[in-house]
Order: sequence, then C-alpha cells, then structure tokens
Amino acid sequence: MKERLVSLQNAALAELEDVANPQELNEVRVQYLGKKGALTEILRGMGQLSAEERPVIGQLANDVRAAIEGALAELQTKFDAEETNRRLAQEKIDVTLAGRAPETGTLHPLNWVIQQVEDIFVGMGYIVAEGPEVERDYYNFEALNLPKNHPARDMQDSFYITDEILLRTHTSPVQVRTMEKMHGEVPVKIICPGKVYRRDNDDATHSHMFTQIEGLVIDKNVRMSDLKGTLLQFVQEMFGPETQIRLRPSFFPFTEPSAEVDVTCCMCKGNGCRVCKQSGWLEILGSGMVHPRVLEMAGYDPNEYTGFAFGMGVERIAMLKYGVDDIRHFYTNDLRFLRQFAHD
Ligand code: DAH
Repeated sequence: MKERLVSLQNAALAELEDVANPQELNEVRVQYLGKKGALTEILRGMGQLSAEERPVIGQLANDVRAAIEGALAELQTKFDAEETNRRLAQEKIDVTLAGRAPETGTLHPLNWVIQQVEDIFVGMGYIVAEGPEVERDYYNFEALNLPKNHPARDMQDSFYITDEILLRTHTSPVQVRTMEKMHGEVPVKIICPGKVYRRDNDDATHSHMFTQIEGLVIDKNVRMSDLKGTLLQFVQEMFGPETQIRLRPSFFPFTEPSAEVDVTCCMCKGNGCRVCKQSGWLEILGSGMVHPRVLEMAGYDPNEYTGFAFGMGVERIAMLKYGVDDIRHFYTNDLRFLRQFAHD
C-alpha cells in the first residue's frame, strides 16, 4: 500500500507537469483527489491493515494528499496570475489617445435675430412679453378693430380650429393681452417675439409658419415722432449707424395713422441694386399710432393715453441682414446653412 501511495504521488506530480490550463488542472484534481479518485480508492483498503500499520499509512496518505494539493494550489495561483495579466493587457486604456470633442450646436439664426432685437429694445427700457400661438378670434381680430366680416381679415388667411379659436396670424394679439393685464397702468413698453401662422403656399418668400416681433408703447403724450425716433434707433443698431428710414402711409385696422417703414438697402447702401429692385429702400415693418378703439377696448381712455405699435417679420430681417435668398432655409435644418451663423 505504501508503494501504491508513493507511486500515486509520483504519477500525480508527473501529470501536473504537463497541465497547461485550469480545466486540465481540475481534471487532475478530480482524478487523484476526487470522491471517486485514485487516493480514495487506495484508502478503501485501510480496513484490511493491521493496527500498527494503520497510523503509518494514514500519515503517509495525508502527506501524499498534502503534496498533491500543494502542487495543485501552486499551479492554480500561476493560472490565476496569468488570467489577471491577460485581462489587464486586454482592458488597458490608452490615456494618450486623442479624445472625441463633443459637438456643440449654435443658436438658430432666427433666435439669434430675436435676441439681437430684444437686446436693442430692452436697452430702451422695454419688457419682453409672450402670448399663446393658439389664440381666440377676439384677441387676434376683434379687439384689434377687425370685427367679424371685416374685409381686412382676408389679408391674413387663417388656420381656424373652431369658429372662435385659431392659430394666431400675427403677434398683435399680445398687445391686447398685455394691455388687459396692465389694467390701465402706464407706461406699457413691450416687445413680443413669436411664431405666427397663415394659410399661404410655401415658396421662396412665403411660409405657412413664420416669426414676428411686435412692439407696443402706451403712455401719456406718445407721438408719431416717438415712433419714428424709436425705429430709427433700432435700425441703426441692427443694420449699421448709417441706416436711414422712411415712413410710407399705409393701412392697418388697429393703427391710425398707419405707416410702412423702409430702411436704406443694406446691400447697396441705398444706391439701388437687385435686392431693393433699384429703389434703394427695403420694407421691414408695419407700424402706426394705436387706434383709439383698440385702446378703449383694452381699458385705456384714448383721450388720456396714446401709443404706438409696430410689427416686423423676423425671417425678412434675417434674410436682409445675412443675404439669405429663400425663407425655407430657416426650416429645413440643413446644417451647412445653420453653421454659417455660428458665433460666440
Ligand atoms: N400685425 C401686422 C401684420 O402681421 C403687422 C403690424 C402692423 C403690427 C402695424 C403692428 C402695427 O403692431 O402697428 O401684418
């Protein structure tokens, strides 16, 4: 039995020399030390030993087990270390690799124009106001002196949702909403940017949705000269200090008198070119003195207060300022177009 134990140890150790991976190591472990392994097999014969031999063989069997276990453990440690090294090599992060720069967007050109216009008017003491895009007929038309069946409603073909609710066709309803909120207090000085909607067929100069900026001032003794001075200040900040304006008589139901405002063409400086159709002037907004009926309906006594108002198309301003020839560029989100407006 002694010889069998010794040769079992030698065989196990010899076999371990050829073990190449943890799976093989385990096979050897099971083969020699497992429940049905070789060592167990030999120890089954212990019962037949004499009382003197038993402790000696028992001791030897323990030594053999310890020797094999020691060799197994050593190899296991070696395989574990190899595995760790393999993983470390595989999962290594190369911190010297150049990073991926996050792509940052830029302000949309229309929002940028809105921001510039707001800055100019806030600098003159105006407050930025807002109103809903889904609007009541009352605010969009009636309170602006456009009663039902008024022919001027046709100037602004509308998207109606119900008989009384529509997508606003201009930002002018915010004038009325603001005056109502102010409850007759003065001064009212607001600027209001926002989207508006009209039943137009889209082409290079028309869009069923576009953007306007409305302005409204109400106080005592507000005169047409205040309107003209304010707009001159605005266009000179927006288009350059040499820019001039001219007011042409016009008609809007909510202003009396009404004027359309032209600026000297920013392309040719007023000399005449293709953009201004050789006239030297470009129309940029509608304006006028707030109609007494509009003041009255919104709770302001027209005998005590006067005011002026104006409304401009943001796309048109952006197109003139940056030489954009098709309004649809603003909505098709071509990054090559939008990136040209990147700025700090
Ligand atoms: N709401 C007008 C439009 O959309 C523009 C306008 C004209 C606004 C004169 C005004 C104004 O406030 O006084 O065509």
